[in-house]
Amino acid sequence: MNIFEALRQSHEKQRELAEQLLHTSGDTPERRELFDRLKNELFAHAVGEDRYLYIPLMMTDSGLNISRHALAEHHKMDELLEQLTDTEFSNPGWLAIAKKLAETVHHHLQEEEHGFFQQAGKILDAKQKETLATQYLAEYQKYKKADKDSLTG
Ligand SMILES: [Fe+2]
Ligand SMILES: [Fe+2]
Repeated sequence: MNIFEALRQSHEKQRELAEQLLHTSGDTPERRELFDRLKNELFAHAVGEDRYLYIPLMMTDSGLNISRHALAEHHKMDELLEQLTDTEFSNPGWLAIAKKLAETVHHHLQEEEHGFFQQAGKILDAKQKETLATQYLAEYQKYKKADKDSLTG
């Protein structure tokens, strides 16, 4: 498996969880559970992706701009997650922030899969792509809540 295939596995989970979250309402166990899972998925993915894709890319001249751009988007998602964490689940404004987060996630994944990854693919060699996949997956697993895995499907 190469780094891009490894990263895409989590992208699919993120899309699914973000979509499901938008169909929740009020302070319900469903909303709490889905938010917790999305937050953990985004966190575990971003830690691994920052460390084993974007930091290595940042060390190259041609990878500098895409890395900065991607890290800025990760930061934006962090801020929205923080806003959601600080807002009561029952607050009528909660869903509007969740929508903004879902849009940001979708836009970011689209940009990675159809732009950043193609450019990164030209910068990294085959050996690096495999090594980074192994390192990314270990990091991702480390931050992923194991007990949530079976529920993610
Ligand atoms: Fe990603
Ligand atoms: Fe990302």
